[in-house]
Amino acid sequence: MPPSLSSEPAGRAADLLRRRSGGAADLVWQAPGRANLIGEHTDYNGGWALPFAIDRVTAVAVRRRDGPGLRAWSAQEPEMLVWSGPAPLGAAGPTTANPGVPPWGRYVLGAVAALAGSGVEVPAADVAIDSDVPVGAGVSSSAAVLIATIAALAALAGAEPGAASLAAMAHRAETIHAGVPVGWLDHLGIAHATPGHAALIDFSTGAWEPVPLQRGPLLVVDSHVRHDNAAGGYRRRREECAQAARLLGTADLRAATREAVESGLEGSLRRRARHVVTENGRVLTAAGRLRAGKPLGDLLWASHASLRDEFEASCPELDLIVDTSRSLGADGARMMGGGFGGSALVLGLPAAALAGALASAFERRGQRPPAVWEVAAAGGPAPA
Ligand code: GLA
Repeated sequence: MPPSLSSEPAGRAADLLRRRSGGAADLVWQAPGRANLIGEHTDYNGGWALPFAIDRVTAVAVRRRDGPGLRAWSAQEPEMLVWSGPAPLGAAGPTTANPGVPPWGRYVLGAVAALAGSGVEVPAADVAIDSDVPVGAGVSSSAAVLIATIAALAALAGAEPGAASLAAMAHRAETIHAGVPVGWLDHLGIAHATPGHAALIDFSTGAWEPVPLQRGPLLVVDSHVRHDNAAGGYRRRREECAQAARLLGTADLRAATREAVESGLEGSLRRRARHVVTENGRVLTAAGRLRAGKPLGDLLWASHASLRDEFEASCPELDLIVDTSRSLGADGARMMGGGFGGSALVLGLPAAALAGALASAFERRGQRPPAVWEVAAAGGPAPA
């Protein structure tokens, strides 16, 4: 088991549980949000990425109760979740269809269902959640809550799943039970997080290795434009990638060559596939540069340009953040995560200087300035 870590969300989750359920937590687990150095929209195409965990966590405090069922509270949500069973979960399929379950509650029930699917029967429990991972900002608040909930409920049931199995259950909970069609980036990136390192993940096998990150400020810049991976652009892009692979006769776009993409596809499908193929190349180059201690900012600029022009997953606010970072002399910057909103990653600028420049640039357009915060590459899920 990883060493215990304390955090403010962990203390607050335990307090919330005590106030609402009337007793002390049996145990608390926490899991971080994630950033991604490079490798966007490659995960569900069987490619590679270099995610790392950020020093912001979601904490889940749990306590056995006299059954049946589950009660849950989140400090960030007004509605309580009450689930009285019986066996809602198991192989019951998407919990999205259950009336009376608040949207955030699907993640908690999805966690129980994924555990049940792996043979872990969760006892009747009270659950309290608190988090300082911003929601909808592209830093995987949903994977953080899933992994922390699964780890906490597993521990309550006397089980201790390893990192790969935690990631697999969280992915199942999010895609099947919460109905959000995401890839593996968030779950594997969080489960395999190593302080001071990014994880080079090969999504065709789940194999990974830690790669040391270079020193210097890592900034996450939240555009405040909210995206939803369950709908809209993200889902369409996945479908386009699947269609491109079908037309090329390959299992996925990881198996496609640049030549095949140029000769075998046209129009927007060619541009989507070109992004995936070139982004995979950039990830592997970035990993080599990190190991050799060489700069990699050019790869981040190129990744953003490709996401903006070929994959068309950026938005004007993210472009403005990246352009402003460039004009201030950043080492590199790019949009991060699913896109269409969320956050950008900026390397090599002081947070205050970037925040000031973005405040002027966004206020000139009559828009709320982005939030800029410096992050450190943190460790993965741990008891608190
Ligand atoms: C979102 C999804 C991930 C991944 C990224 C794009 O964050 O949750 O699975 O597809 O978008 O790289």
